[in-house]
Amino acid sequence: MEPDELKNREEVIRAADCLRQGGLVAFPTETVYGLGAIATSEQAVAQIFAAKGRPSDNPLIIHIGDKDQLSHWVSELPDVAGKLVRSFWPGPLTLVLPHQGNIAANVTAGLDTVAVRMPSHPVALALLQLAGEPVAAPSANRSGRPSPTEAAHVWHDLAGRLDILLDGGETGVGVESTVVDVTGEIPVLLRPGGITVEALTRAVGHVEIDAGLKQEESVPRSPGMKYRHYAPQAEMWLVEGQEEHVLARIRELGADAMRRGRKVGILTTEEHADKFHADVVIPCGRRSDPLSVARGLYQALRTFDARGVDFILAEAFPEKGIFYSVMNRLRKAADGKVIRV
Ligand code: TXA
Ligand code: MG
Repeated sequence: MEPDELKNREEVIRAADCLRQGGLVAFPTETVYGLGAIATSEQAVAQIFAAKGRPSDNPLIIHIGDKDQLSHWVSELPDVAGKLVRSFWPGPLTLVLPHQGNIAANVTAGLDTVAVRMPSHPVALALLQLAGEPVAAPSANRSGRPSPTEAAHVWHDLAGRLDILLDGGETGVGVESTVVDVTGEIPVLLRPGGITVEALTRAVGHVEIDAGLKQEESVPRSPGMKYRHYAPQAEMWLVEGQEEHVLARIRELGADAMRRGRKVGILTTEEHADKFHADVVIPCGRRSDPLSVARGLYQALRTFDARGVDFILAEAFPEKGIFYSVMNRLRKAADGKVIRV
């Protein structure tokens, strides 16, 4: 082993010990950083809610380091769930299943189901395997803020509120895991994320989209989806429609807001960045490479805050593949404020 690897290994061992003793550890996953506590201790888990300022009716995902652990915590594993586990674990997919009652009650917010995932990030896997028990972990941001995709984001939000922060560099996927309810015959998508609907459908044939995700409905079944989320401090508007019209409207609205003295930010892509003049123009990725947009999204939202922007205009994306997940986050960040042109 290289000295660096050895040092990392020692840090992960220390972090696993800390978790077992009831501490709070932030760690990288392939999606975003998580803020973990051992999922069997109500006291340990309570610290997560306190550190994040998270409402207690919003349940947490438990993370496991081994597929075989699933049977210790869930009471039923329908065929379709088994299929999804084989297709996508370890990876950015969370399954909602009935639990056995041996997880701390505050993890599940009193529901009779628990959300479980096995992440693929090597640091997360090593930590979970050493901890031995499931680790409850929401994204490691203050509640409502964009999820952290770098250790520095965690530090910004939670310094002084956690015991150990494991730095694994930038996460790869950039948006959170896809959450699927597999308690019924047909899997139901509760939160779009790193695994696309198209990939889920290829694996299991048919996936329903929870009514709460469709715009006309407003009571999502995944409790966390009802809050304003992923949000920068600025007022944000999402502009959707035909590309040329979108660009023109953003230019017009941006110029107008600047005349009114607002500090204007534009959230765009590499392809369009030079078409705008505003206080802060941020390309979050390449439109021709949707994964790059997902990866750069939260960093971009945080940069607007860091630069003191108070009015953001964002380009919309066609709602396919990973862009569907990106658009879900953008709508939440904009608190539903969408302009169609
Ligand atoms: O990628 C991810 O999933 C990250 C990393 C750290 O693993 N975690 C994450 O956790 O995004 P969090 O707490 O920010 O989001 C968990 C989502 C929330 O929308 C919550 O309401 C939902 O999962 N959820 C948790 N348990 C549930 C349950 N039993 N039934 C329905 N939804 C549930
Ligand atoms: Mg979160």
